[in-house]
Amino acid sequence: MKTILPGQTIGIIGGGQLGRMMGLAAKEAGFKIAVLDPNMDSPCGQIADIRIVAPYDDEAALEELGEVSDVITYEFENIDYEGLERLSQIAYVPQGAELVRITQNRIAEKAEIQASGAPVANYVVAESFSELIAKIDQVGFPCIVKTAYGGYDGKGQVKLESANDLELAEPLFTHSACIAEAFVPFKTEISVIIQRNPEGESYCLPISENIHKHHILHESIVPARVAEAVIAKAEEAAKKIADHLELVGTLAVEMFVLENDEIVINELAPRPHNSGHYSIEACNVSQFHQHIRAVCGWPLRKPRLWASSVMVNVLGEHVVPLKKVVMNHPDWSIHLYGKAEAKEKRKMGHVTIMTEDIEKTLVEIDSTGIWS
Ligand SMILES: Nc1ncnc2c1ncn2[C@@H]1O[C@H](COP(=O)(O)OP(=O)(O)O)[C@@H](O)[C@H]1O
Ligand SMILES: [Mg+2]
Repeated sequence: MKTILPGQTIGIIGGGQLGRMMGLAAKEAGFKIAVLDPNMDSPCGQIADIRIVAPYDDEAALEELGEVSDVITYEFENIDYEGLERLSQIAYVPQGAELVRITQNRIAEKAEIQASGAPVANYVVAESFSELIAKIDQVGFPCIVKTAYGGYDGKGQVKLESANDLELAEPLFTHSACIAEAFVPFKTEISVIIQRNPEGESYCLPISENIHKHHILHESIVPARVAEAVIAKAEEAAKKIADHLELVGTLAVEMFVLENDEIVINELAPRPHNSGHYSIEACNVSQFHQHIRAVCGWPLRKPRLWASSVMVNVLGEHVVPLKKVVMNHPDWSIHLYGKAEAKEKRKMGHVTIMTEDIEKTLVEIDSTGIWS
Protein backbone atom coordinates (compact mmCIF):
# COMPACT_ATOMS: atom_id res chain seq x y z
CA MET A 1 0.00 0.00 0.00
CA LYS A 2 1.39 3.36 -1.05
CA THR A 3 1.24 6.13 1.56
CA ILE A 4 0.64 9.72 0.51
CA LEU A 5 1.78 12.36 3.00
CA PRO A 6 1.05 16.04 3.72
CA GLY A 7 2.88 18.27 1.27
CA GLN A 8 2.07 15.87 -1.56
CA THR A 9 -0.67 16.63 -4.08
CA ILE A 10 -4.08 15.01 -4.34
CA GLY A 11 -5.64 15.32 -7.80
CA ILE A 12 -9.44 15.43 -7.94
CA ILE A 13 -11.44 14.81 -11.10
CA GLY A 14 -14.50 17.02 -10.80
CA GLY A 15 -14.72 20.42 -9.17
CA GLY A 16 -18.15 20.38 -7.54
CA GLN A 17 -19.08 20.64 -3.87
CA LEU A 18 -17.92 17.12 -3.07
CA GLY A 19 -14.48 17.90 -4.46
CA ARG A 20 -14.45 21.16 -2.54
CA MET A 21 -15.25 19.49 0.79
CA MET A 22 -12.71 16.71 0.09
CA GLY A 23 -10.16 19.37 -0.75
CA LEU A 24 -10.87 21.43 2.37
CA ALA A 25 -10.45 18.32 4.53
CA ALA A 26 -7.16 17.45 2.82
CA LYS A 27 -5.80 20.99 3.03
CA GLU A 28 -6.28 21.03 6.81
CA ALA A 29 -3.61 18.37 6.98
CA GLY A 30 -1.30 20.18 4.56
CA PHE A 31 -1.99 18.28 1.34
CA LYS A 32 -2.04 20.24 -1.89
CA ILE A 33 -5.03 19.98 -4.22
CA ALA A 34 -5.14 19.85 -8.00
CA VAL A 35 -8.53 19.80 -9.69
CA LEU A 36 -9.76 19.04 -13.19
CA ASP A 37 -13.04 20.74 -14.08
CA PRO A 38 -14.37 22.44 -17.22
CA ASN A 39 -15.18 25.60 -15.24
CA MET A 40 -12.62 28.13 -14.08
CA ASP A 41 -14.63 29.11 -11.00
CA SER A 42 -15.77 25.66 -9.82
CA PRO A 43 -16.50 25.12 -6.11
CA CYS A 44 -13.32 23.03 -5.76
CA GLY A 45 -11.30 25.22 -8.11
CA GLN A 46 -11.83 28.09 -5.65
CA ILE A 47 -9.91 26.23 -2.95
CA ALA A 48 -7.42 24.30 -5.09
CA ASP A 49 -3.69 24.94 -5.44
CA ILE A 50 -3.69 23.86 -9.09
CA ARG A 51 -6.59 24.22 -11.51
CA ILE A 52 -6.76 22.40 -14.81
CA VAL A 53 -9.68 23.81 -16.76
CA ALA A 54 -10.80 21.30 -19.39
CA PRO A 55 -13.50 18.70 -20.07
CA TYR A 56 -13.27 15.45 -18.05
CA ASP A 57 -12.44 13.43 -21.15
CA ASP A 58 -9.64 15.73 -22.38
CA GLU A 59 -6.70 13.38 -22.69
CA ALA A 60 -3.97 16.00 -22.37
CA ALA A 61 -5.67 17.53 -19.33
CA LEU A 62 -5.97 14.14 -17.61
CA GLU A 63 -2.29 13.52 -18.29
CA GLU A 64 -1.42 16.90 -16.85
CA LEU A 65 -3.47 16.09 -13.74
CA GLY A 66 -1.54 12.81 -13.48
CA GLU A 67 1.76 14.63 -13.75
CA VAL A 68 1.09 17.16 -11.01
CA SER A 69 -0.60 14.71 -8.60
CA ASP A 70 0.80 12.04 -6.27
CA VAL A 71 -2.59 10.35 -6.03
CA ILE A 72 -5.80 10.75 -8.03
CA THR A 73 -9.38 10.56 -6.78
CA TYR A 74 -12.71 11.66 -8.22
CA GLU A 75 -15.76 13.38 -6.77
CA PHE A 76 -18.50 12.04 -9.02
CA GLU A 77 -19.16 8.98 -11.11
CA ASN A 78 -20.15 10.52 -14.42
CA ILE A 79 -16.57 11.19 -15.43
CA ASP A 80 -14.97 9.59 -18.45
CA TYR A 81 -14.39 5.92 -17.63
CA GLU A 82 -11.89 5.32 -20.45
CA GLY A 83 -9.99 8.47 -19.44
CA LEU A 84 -9.78 7.27 -15.83
CA GLU A 85 -8.71 3.83 -16.99
CA ARG A 86 -5.89 5.33 -19.10
CA LEU A 87 -4.91 7.65 -16.28
CA SER A 88 -4.63 4.70 -13.89
CA GLN A 89 -1.84 3.34 -16.10
CA ILE A 90 0.32 6.44 -15.80
CA ALA A 91 -0.67 7.77 -12.37
CA TYR A 92 -1.56 6.38 -8.93
CA VAL A 93 -5.34 5.80 -8.86
CA PRO A 94 -5.90 3.56 -5.80
CA GLN A 95 -9.66 3.39 -6.36
CA GLY A 96 -9.17 2.02 -9.89
CA ALA A 97 -11.64 2.64 -12.70
CA GLU A 98 -13.82 -0.46 -12.39
CA LEU A 99 -16.16 0.96 -9.73
CA VAL A 100 -16.85 3.97 -11.95
CA ARG A 101 -17.67 1.69 -14.89
CA ILE A 102 -20.13 -0.25 -12.74
CA THR A 103 -21.88 2.66 -11.02
CA GLN A 104 -22.22 4.65 -14.26
CA ASN A 105 -24.57 2.01 -15.54
CA ARG A 106 -27.63 0.93 -13.55
CA ILE A 107 -27.70 -2.41 -15.35
CA ALA A 108 -24.16 -3.31 -14.31
CA GLU A 109 -24.73 -1.83 -10.85
CA LYS A 110 -27.85 -3.92 -10.14
CA ALA A 111 -26.10 -7.07 -11.34
CA GLU A 112 -23.15 -6.45 -9.02
CA ILE A 113 -25.35 -5.70 -6.01
CA GLN A 114 -27.18 -8.95 -6.65
CA ALA A 115 -23.91 -10.83 -7.11
CA SER A 116 -22.74 -9.55 -3.70
CA GLY A 117 -25.74 -11.26 -2.12
CA ALA A 118 -27.46 -8.04 -1.01
CA PRO A 119 -31.22 -7.74 -1.75
CA VAL A 120 -32.53 -5.65 -4.69
CA ALA A 121 -36.07 -5.06 -6.00
CA ASN A 122 -37.29 -7.43 -8.68
CA TYR A 123 -36.21 -5.95 -12.04
CA VAL A 124 -35.76 -6.56 -15.76
CA VAL A 125 -33.37 -5.07 -18.31
CA ALA A 126 -34.83 -3.72 -21.58
CA GLU A 127 -32.73 -2.54 -24.53
CA SER A 128 -35.77 -1.14 -26.31
CA PHE A 129 -39.35 -0.04 -25.65
CA SER A 130 -40.71 -3.20 -27.32
CA GLU A 131 -38.53 -5.33 -25.04
CA LEU A 132 -39.92 -3.43 -22.05
CA ILE A 133 -43.48 -4.20 -23.18
CA ALA A 134 -42.58 -7.86 -23.65
CA LYS A 135 -40.96 -8.19 -20.21
CA ILE A 136 -43.01 -5.87 -17.99
CA ASP A 137 -45.20 -8.67 -16.63
CA GLN A 138 -42.13 -10.13 -14.93
CA VAL A 139 -42.09 -6.97 -12.75
CA GLY A 140 -45.74 -5.91 -12.68
CA PHE A 141 -47.21 -2.57 -11.57
CA PRO A 142 -46.55 -0.15 -10.05
CA CYS A 143 -42.96 -0.05 -11.27
CA ILE A 144 -40.24 2.46 -12.03
CA VAL A 145 -38.39 2.58 -15.33
CA LYS A 146 -34.91 4.11 -15.12
CA THR A 147 -32.36 4.86 -17.84
CA ALA A 148 -29.15 2.87 -17.54
CA TYR A 149 -27.00 6.00 -17.85
CA GLY A 150 -26.94 9.53 -16.55
CA GLY A 151 -29.85 9.69 -14.08
CA TYR A 152 -29.65 11.82 -10.93
CA ASP A 153 -32.10 13.54 -8.57
CA GLY A 154 -34.95 11.55 -10.11
CA LYS A 155 -34.08 12.56 -13.67
CA GLY A 156 -34.22 9.79 -16.27
CA GLN A 157 -36.94 7.80 -14.55
CA VAL A 158 -40.71 7.42 -14.64
CA LYS A 159 -43.19 5.62 -12.43
CA LEU A 160 -45.80 3.47 -14.17
CA GLU A 161 -48.98 2.81 -12.19
CA SER A 162 -50.50 0.47 -14.74
CA ALA A 163 -50.15 -0.80 -18.33
CA ASN A 164 -51.94 2.39 -19.44
CA ASP A 165 -48.85 4.38 -18.44
CA LEU A 166 -46.40 2.32 -20.49
CA GLU A 167 -46.00 4.96 -23.19
CA LEU A 168 -44.59 7.37 -20.57
CA ALA A 169 -41.46 5.22 -20.60
CA GLU A 170 -40.93 5.31 -24.37
CA PRO A 171 -38.91 8.57 -24.47
CA LEU A 172 -36.39 7.15 -21.96
CA PHE A 173 -35.15 4.72 -24.61
CA THR A 174 -33.93 7.55 -26.85
CA HIS A 175 -31.34 8.04 -24.10
CA SER A 176 -30.21 4.47 -23.42
CA ALA A 177 -31.28 0.99 -22.43
CA CYS A 178 -33.36 0.93 -19.25
CA ILE A 179 -34.23 -1.16 -16.26
CA ALA A 180 -37.76 -1.57 -14.94
CA GLU A 181 -37.96 -2.35 -11.25
CA ALA A 182 -40.81 -3.08 -8.90
CA PHE A 183 -42.01 -0.09 -6.91
CA VAL A 184 -40.86 -0.64 -3.31
CA PRO A 185 -43.48 0.47 -0.73
CA PHE A 186 -40.84 1.66 1.68
CA LYS A 187 -41.50 3.27 5.05
CA THR A 188 -38.07 4.90 5.25
CA GLU A 189 -35.09 5.58 3.00
CA ILE A 190 -31.65 5.27 4.56
CA SER A 191 -28.08 5.37 3.35
CA VAL A 192 -24.93 3.70 4.55
CA ILE A 193 -21.63 5.36 3.72
CA ILE A 194 -18.90 2.76 3.84
CA GLN A 195 -15.24 3.63 3.44
CA ARG A 196 -12.37 1.23 2.86
CA ASN A 197 -8.61 1.57 2.46
CA PRO A 198 -6.37 -0.53 0.19
CA GLU A 199 -5.59 -2.88 3.13
CA GLY A 200 -9.27 -3.80 3.33
CA GLU A 201 -9.95 -1.95 6.59
CA SER A 202 -13.48 -0.54 6.46
CA TYR A 203 -15.96 1.43 8.54
CA CYS A 204 -19.54 2.60 8.08
CA LEU A 205 -20.57 6.09 9.14
CA PRO A 206 -23.63 6.31 11.39
CA ILE A 207 -26.62 5.57 9.16
CA SER A 208 -28.69 8.46 7.92
CA GLU A 209 -32.42 8.61 7.25
CA ASN A 210 -33.17 10.51 4.06
CA ILE A 211 -36.21 12.58 3.24
CA HIS A 212 -36.61 13.61 -0.41
CA LYS A 213 -38.67 16.45 -1.89
CA HIS A 214 -39.26 16.41 -5.64
CA HIS A 215 -36.77 13.51 -5.85
CA ILE A 216 -34.00 15.68 -4.41
CA LEU A 217 -32.56 14.98 -0.97
CA HIS A 218 -34.13 17.46 1.43
CA GLU A 219 -33.15 16.30 4.93
CA SER A 220 -30.87 13.71 6.43
CA ILE A 221 -31.58 12.66 10.00
CA VAL A 222 -28.90 10.89 12.02
CA PRO A 223 -29.16 8.45 13.62
CA ALA A 224 -31.84 7.06 11.30
CA ARG A 225 -35.11 6.43 13.17
CA VAL A 226 -35.10 2.68 12.53
CA ALA A 227 -34.76 -0.43 14.71
CA GLU A 228 -31.33 -1.69 15.82
CA ALA A 229 -31.90 -4.81 13.72
CA VAL A 230 -32.29 -2.65 10.60
CA ILE A 231 -29.00 -0.89 11.33
CA ALA A 232 -27.23 -4.24 11.62
CA LYS A 233 -28.76 -5.55 8.37
CA ALA A 234 -27.94 -2.34 6.52
CA GLU A 235 -24.30 -2.33 7.64
CA GLU A 236 -23.96 -6.00 6.79
CA ALA A 237 -25.33 -5.40 3.27
CA ALA A 238 -23.01 -2.41 2.72
CA LYS A 239 -20.03 -4.48 3.87
CA LYS A 240 -20.95 -7.32 1.50
CA ILE A 241 -21.18 -4.94 -1.44
CA ALA A 242 -17.92 -3.14 -0.53
CA ASP A 243 -16.01 -6.39 -0.15
CA HIS A 244 -17.49 -7.79 -3.36
CA LEU A 245 -16.41 -4.65 -5.26
CA GLU A 246 -13.02 -4.56 -3.47
CA LEU A 247 -13.83 -0.96 -2.63
CA VAL A 248 -11.12 1.60 -2.03
CA GLY A 249 -12.40 5.03 -1.01
CA THR A 250 -16.07 5.73 -0.37
CA LEU A 251 -19.27 3.97 -1.37
CA ALA A 252 -22.71 5.33 -0.50
CA VAL A 253 -25.37 2.64 -0.45
CA GLU A 254 -28.96 3.93 -0.72
CA MET A 255 -31.55 1.57 0.74
CA PHE A 256 -35.27 1.23 1.32
CA VAL A 257 -36.65 -0.03 4.66
CA LEU A 258 -39.92 -1.92 4.37
CA GLU A 259 -42.82 -2.11 6.86
CA ASN A 260 -41.51 -5.49 8.08
CA ASP A 261 -38.00 -4.03 8.59
CA GLU A 262 -36.52 -5.89 5.64
CA ILE A 263 -34.15 -3.80 3.50
CA VAL A 264 -33.83 -3.45 -0.28
CA ILE A 265 -30.77 -1.85 -1.87
CA ASN A 266 -31.66 1.00 -4.25
CA GLU A 267 -28.46 2.36 -5.75
CA LEU A 268 -24.78 3.05 -5.18
CA ALA A 269 -22.58 6.13 -5.44
CA PRO A 270 -18.80 5.59 -5.47
CA ARG A 271 -17.98 8.83 -3.66
CA PRO A 272 -18.90 10.93 -0.63
CA HIS A 273 -22.64 11.46 -0.57
CA ASN A 274 -24.99 14.31 0.24
CA SER A 275 -26.48 12.24 3.08
CA GLY A 276 -23.05 12.12 4.78
CA HIS A 277 -22.46 15.87 5.00
CA TYR A 278 -23.68 15.87 8.62
CA SER A 279 -20.44 14.04 9.53
CA ILE A 280 -18.39 17.25 9.09
CA GLU A 281 -19.75 18.55 12.40
CA ALA A 282 -21.42 15.57 14.03
CA CYS A 283 -18.69 12.90 13.84
CA ASN A 284 -15.13 12.47 15.03
CA VAL A 285 -14.21 11.86 11.37
CA SER A 286 -16.11 13.33 8.44
CA GLN A 287 -16.79 11.36 5.27
CA PHE A 288 -14.32 13.69 3.53
CA HIS A 289 -11.48 13.22 6.03
CA GLN A 290 -12.01 9.45 5.98
CA HIS A 291 -12.04 9.43 2.16
CA ILE A 292 -8.69 11.25 2.11
CA ARG A 293 -7.28 8.79 4.69
CA ALA A 294 -8.46 5.86 2.55
CA VAL A 295 -7.02 7.05 -0.78
CA CYS A 296 -3.80 8.19 0.88
CA GLY A 297 -3.34 4.72 2.36
CA TRP A 298 -3.73 5.76 6.00
CA PRO A 299 -5.39 3.62 8.67
CA LEU A 300 -9.03 4.60 9.05
CA ARG A 301 -10.60 6.10 12.17
CA LYS A 302 -13.57 4.34 13.78
CA PRO A 303 -16.46 6.79 13.33
CA ARG A 304 -18.31 8.09 16.38
CA LEU A 305 -21.35 10.34 16.42
CA TRP A 306 -20.97 13.29 18.78
CA ALA A 307 -24.63 14.31 18.62
CA SER A 308 -27.75 13.42 16.70
CA SER A 309 -28.23 15.84 13.86
CA VAL A 310 -30.32 17.06 10.99
CA MET A 311 -28.84 18.18 7.68
CA VAL A 312 -31.02 20.22 5.38
CA ASN A 313 -30.09 21.01 1.79
CA VAL A 314 -29.98 24.57 0.51
CA LEU A 315 -31.20 24.81 -3.09
CA GLY A 316 -31.10 27.91 -5.28
CA GLU A 317 -34.46 29.18 -4.08
CA HIS A 318 -33.43 28.85 -0.40
CA VAL A 319 -30.27 30.97 -0.43
CA VAL A 320 -31.77 34.43 -0.05
CA PRO A 321 -34.29 33.53 2.70
CA LEU A 322 -31.62 31.51 4.52
CA LYS A 323 -29.16 34.41 4.61
CA LYS A 324 -31.84 36.55 6.23
CA VAL A 325 -32.22 34.26 9.26
CA VAL A 326 -29.09 32.18 9.64
CA MET A 327 -27.36 34.61 12.02
CA ASN A 328 -30.27 34.18 14.42
CA HIS A 329 -29.61 30.44 14.70
CA PRO A 330 -26.28 29.98 16.44
CA ASP A 331 -26.70 26.19 16.30
CA TRP A 332 -26.92 26.09 12.51
CA SER A 333 -23.68 25.35 10.65
CA ILE A 334 -24.04 26.86 7.21
CA HIS A 335 -22.11 25.56 4.21
CA LEU A 336 -22.33 27.33 0.86
CA TYR A 337 -20.39 25.91 -2.05
CA GLY A 338 -19.41 29.08 -3.88
CA LYS A 339 -21.61 28.54 -6.93
CA ALA A 340 -22.18 31.81 -8.74
CA GLU A 341 -25.70 31.27 -9.98
CA ALA A 342 -28.46 30.28 -7.54
CA LYS A 343 -30.64 28.41 -10.03
CA GLU A 344 -33.86 26.89 -8.77
CA LYS A 345 -33.37 23.32 -7.46
CA ARG A 346 -29.58 23.60 -7.81
CA LYS A 347 -27.67 22.37 -4.75
CA MET A 348 -26.02 25.51 -3.39
CA GLY A 349 -25.17 24.41 0.13
CA HIS A 350 -26.47 22.74 3.26
CA VAL A 351 -27.07 23.40 6.93
CA THR A 352 -26.23 20.96 9.72
CA ILE A 353 -27.88 21.21 13.11
CA MET A 354 -26.64 19.08 16.00
CA THR A 355 -29.52 18.60 18.39
CA GLU A 356 -30.73 16.70 21.42
CA ASP A 357 -34.27 16.75 20.09
CA ILE A 358 -34.60 15.73 16.43
CA GLU A 359 -38.40 16.18 16.32
CA LYS A 360 -38.19 19.69 17.73
CA THR A 361 -35.45 20.62 15.26
CA LEU A 362 -37.49 19.30 12.32
CA VAL A 363 -40.39 21.51 13.42
CA GLU A 364 -38.06 24.48 13.85
CA ILE A 365 -36.71 24.01 10.30
CA ASP A 366 -40.24 23.89 8.90
CA SER A 367 -41.38 26.89 10.88
CA THR A 368 -38.79 29.17 9.24
CA GLY A 369 -40.78 28.80 6.01
CA ILE A 370 -37.53 28.66 4.00
CA TRP A 371 -38.13 25.12 2.81
CA SER A 372 -41.92 25.16 2.43
N1 LIG B 1 -38.09 0.98 -6.90
C1 LIG B 1 -38.46 2.09 -6.25
N2 LIG B 1 -39.53 2.05 -5.41
C2 LIG B 1 -39.94 3.17 -4.75
N3 LIG B 1 -39.33 4.36 -4.84
C3 LIG B 1 -38.26 4.47 -5.66
C4 LIG B 1 -37.77 3.34 -6.40
N4 LIG B 1 -36.69 3.74 -7.11
C5 LIG B 1 -36.52 5.04 -6.83
N5 LIG B 1 -37.44 5.50 -5.96
C6 LIG B 1 -37.55 6.87 -5.42
O1 LIG B 1 -36.93 7.80 -6.30
C7 LIG B 1 -35.76 8.36 -5.71
C8 LIG B 1 -34.67 8.54 -6.75
O2 LIG B 1 -34.35 7.28 -7.34
P1 LIG B 1 -32.86 6.77 -7.48
O3 LIG B 1 -32.89 5.43 -8.13
O4 LIG B 1 -32.17 6.86 -6.17
O5 LIG B 1 -32.25 7.77 -8.56
P2 LIG B 1 -31.36 9.07 -8.46
O6 LIG B 1 -31.05 9.31 -7.00
O7 LIG B 1 -30.16 8.69 -9.25
O8 LIG B 1 -32.18 10.11 -9.10
C9 LIG B 1 -35.39 7.39 -4.59
O9 LIG B 1 -34.64 8.04 -3.58
C10 LIG B 1 -36.78 6.96 -4.13
O10 LIG B 1 -37.38 7.95 -3.31
MG1 LIG C 1 -30.64 8.05 -5.47
